[in-house]
Amino acid sequence: MRVLVLGGGGREHALAWGLARSDSVDEVFVGPGNPGTSSVATNIALDAVNPEAVLQVAREKAIDLVVIGPEAPLVAGVADVLRSEGIATFGPNADGARLEGSKAWMKEVLASAGVPTAMHATFGAGEEDQALRYLETMEGFYVVKTDGLAAGKGVVVTESIDEARDAVRSYLSGDAFGDAGRTLVIEEGLTGPELSLLVLCDGSLQGVALAPAQDFKRIGAGDTGPNTGGMGAYSPVPFVDDQIIESVMSGSVALTLAELKRRDIEYRGVLYAGIMMTPQGPKMLEYNVRFGDPECEVVVPRIASDLGVHLYEAATSRMTTKVEFTTDSAVTVVVAAEGYPASPRTGDRIEGLAEANAVEGVTVFHAGTRSSDNAEGIFTSGGRVLAVTGCGASIKEARSRAYQAVGYLDWPGITFRPDIAANAVAEEV
Ligand code: AMP
Ligand code: GLY
Repeated sequence: MRVLVLGGGGREHALAWGLARSDSVDEVFVGPGNPGTSSVATNIALDAVNPEAVLQVAREKAIDLVVIGPEAPLVAGVADVLRSEGIATFGPNADGARLEGSKAWMKEVLASAGVPTAMHATFGAGEEDQALRYLETMEGFYVVKTDGLAAGKGVVVTESIDEARDAVRSYLSGDAFGDAGRTLVIEEGLTGPELSLLVLCDGSLQGVALAPAQDFKRIGAGDTGPNTGGMGAYSPVPFVDDQIIESVMSGSVALTLAELKRRDIEYRGVLYAGIMMTPQGPKMLEYNVRFGDPECEVVVPRIASDLGVHLYEAATSRMTTKVEFTTDSAVTVVVAAEGYPASPRTGDRIEGLAEANAVEGVTVFHAGTRSSDNAEGIFTSGGRVLAVTGCGASIKEARSRAYQAVGYLDWPGITFRPDIAANAVAEEV
């Protein structure tokens, strides 16, 4: 099978790496990819959100399966175009991608489906006064979210009503996130540990849960500072047993897939359930329509069966092969540029890549990197630069390998959280 992966971040490097190891896969292309993906696949210069450009490459390269990594091409309807041309595609059509493209719509689907979630209200143009008044009714802390896509940065969680008010004003005016923020969702603040459950879906009413993961959203140690796309992740999660996964799958996930079907939406791809384990039970914080990044960088290395087979079966509506996982644990530490998430510094030469990659059990996935025509080496080109994944017999071993590798890396202003999976090591039996 010839596979094309769309995207160019750490998630796509992990997917291309997993596909390249699959017996079912003969050749992997990544468009546009990055210097990391070029070590396991062939990169193709490509605008992944342009359906016609993607279609042309898929035809030229005789692609059997397109795997769409990021949300933007999904929301833009790239899957719709590929499917209508008869190309097997992993990733939902634009109708299903709306789950991530509009938080207001996602909340409406959850309500219709009867999925437990945070209490909320939606506000749009001309409703600033109502939104500010709604804030006054909240207790504890405040959560304000852009309706549209904001690369994981459109969520403010704060105890300060002034900060929440500022978010409301800057979102609705369009100053902060343009059109993505002109509609916003205000919701009740929930507490509890978070869980990312990635579910493979083939358009039927039943999905298949991949190994659970936990993500670290805040930039700073001890969960402080602004939200990011994710600063690290680990899998498995000690406090999540099979029974919890089963109850989420037969409850919230099944209800959601049934509600989508009722709306004539056939969902094929990953349904990423972002769950908070509250004292009242699991509640759905959000759905995403793609693999989590960096969750993908710990879940894919733990898949023992053939990733290419699973993605192809999901894309072609006949998931039958059982997904098998290794008993290994995986921990990934995101190494970021100075100034991330607000304004990352880029263009610095990355030192120590080879040494980091040589650590036993470690794979360094590239996220924001580029090569240069004029100079040797690999340079930083984005906020999240690398995702350093360590695998091992325990979370403790996986974690220590990942941090050993991180220790070899260097560039001016290099930033990472020192506490990824630290609590999980303490909880591990
Ligand atoms: P989202 O993009 O909706 O997943 O939000 C990003 C992050 O913000 C989540 O992973 C949580 O850490 C936090 N968050 C979102 N919604 C809430 C909420 N209702 N209560 C507390 N924290 C939240
Ligand atoms: N790691 C969070 C996300 O992919 O949205």
